[in-house]
Amino acid sequence: MTNKVVVNADIEKGTINKNIYGHFSEHLGRCIYEGFWVGEDSPIPNTNGIRNDTVAALKNINIPVLRWPGGCFADEYHWKDGVGPRESRKRMVNTHWGGVVENNHFGTHEFMMLCEMLETEPYICGNVGSGTVQEMSEWVEYMTFDGESPMANWRQENGREEPWKLKYFGVGNENWGCGGNMRPEYYADLYRRFQTYVRSYGDNKIYKIAGGANVDDYRWTEVLMREAHWLMDGLSLHYYTIPGDFWKGKGSALDPREEEWFITMKKALHINELITKHSTIMDKYDPEKRIGMIIDEWGTWFDVEPGTNPGFLYQQNTIRDALVAGLHFHIFHDHSDRVQMANIAQTINVLQAMILTEGEKMILTPTYHVFEMFKVHQDATKLDIDITSADYELNGEKLPSVSASASKDKEGNINISLCNLNHKEESTITIELRGLKEQVGQVSGRLLTADELNAHNTFDNPENVKPVALESFTVENDVLTVKLPATSVAMLTIG
Ligand code: AHR
Repeated sequence: MTNKVVVNADIEKGTINKNIYGHFSEHLGRCIYEGFWVGEDSPIPNTNGIRNDTVAALKNINIPVLRWPGGCFADEYHWKDGVGPRESRKRMVNTHWGGVVENNHFGTHEFMMLCEMLETEPYICGNVGSGTVQEMSEWVEYMTFDGESPMANWRQENGREEPWKLKYFGVGNENWGCGGNMRPEYYADLYRRFQTYVRSYGDNKIYKIAGGANVDDYRWTEVLMREAHWLMDGLSLHYYTIPGDFWKGKGSALDPREEEWFITMKKALHINELITKHSTIMDKYDPEKRIGMIIDEWGTWFDVEPGTNPGFLYQQNTIRDALVAGLHFHIFHDHSDRVQMANIAQTINVLQAMILTEGEKMILTPTYHVFEMFKVHQDATKLDIDITSADYELNGEKLPSVSASASKDKEGNINISLCNLNHKEESTITIELRGLKEQVGQVSGRLLTADELNAHNTFDNPENVKPVALESFTVENDVLTVKLPATSVAMLTIG
């Protein structure tokens, strides 16, 4: 069977929120420390302590929003320990992640400075699990109050005259687990109480995000929506693509086996069912879709690289991760009426990272390249698309071989992203462009692919997997025929 994609250029389906290309960076392993923060005295080139190379690379992918400080870390983070002179900041134990000493050198001021450098919107996650209402309330006052108040005065004493703009604020993280092991009824009450004191000062309007469900915990979503929907702007959802078993062995990031490839694709595609079902529950209480589904943790989770600290969640990143990213984006686009933000876990050196570092060295991962290729979809108009895909079969199980999404940018270019999940066969795809106002003009393409299922970049071979020009396509009137190699992600631009 052939693969056919019809792009209805005259049927617009709203805007693809750029925030679904968001990121998550936690005080975990070498994400914040080494990945971003090296300190002013470091030999690694930096600006006010923040390394220059990782920031420059990330600016190139237009990060729209960055979530911090956790994750599980958020519910044991006490923000007051992370402001004021660095030498006198309190040291603590990062109990969730490796039991290492956290010196609090990267705190609120440093995070806001990082966001300014990246030109990204900050998304701060507050502490419900081990914090107080007062502590959360004062953090928001510290960051955003414009005028005289105890916290605003303290911010000024610590060197920041003007308040920061802060839009996104999460009221706790995974409160069903590391954020307090709560029942949804209990967390719903706490959410109602804590969020009351998360104030919008002046013209700083806070978008409040309630801690949402784990994977398919639909009861959590039901209870939160029933008990507190009118008090939230967003409700989160966490889902990780884990080929194995979370506790017994997740699988190796560098596994070259076809079974592991297939199951990873299958589990990545599963997020479509999760979004659909959680959305259906949200629709019951919010049929207007005012409340955003905020998928503020997603990505692959494998066993840590052998020889590394198990608490640091450091894993390699292959062409398989690139496919997982492409599939997630397509699914997020399909649900753009409900999914207002998504944050991949995590930006540097942790889980499905964009960047890996080794001291002063840095490499870009296949996942980074997908973010770079797909940035044309950010805030673009989604176009209606119809996909007929051949089956991709392994051991009697079937998945669609091809996944696709199309959007129109402000200049009127049409961008079509494509994934060929099939690990052994090229896919020929006929793309019919319907409803065009003008004839097809210039067509160009970029391709990310590899011959090995575990192809990846290393510090010795940093450009093993990187985008190249896609040349295997023909154009005839309004029909493009594309040959997409096995295991590939592509972007076609039609001018
Ligand atoms: O991203 C790693 C961890 O995964 C986060 O800290 C937590 O929220 C989730 O369980």
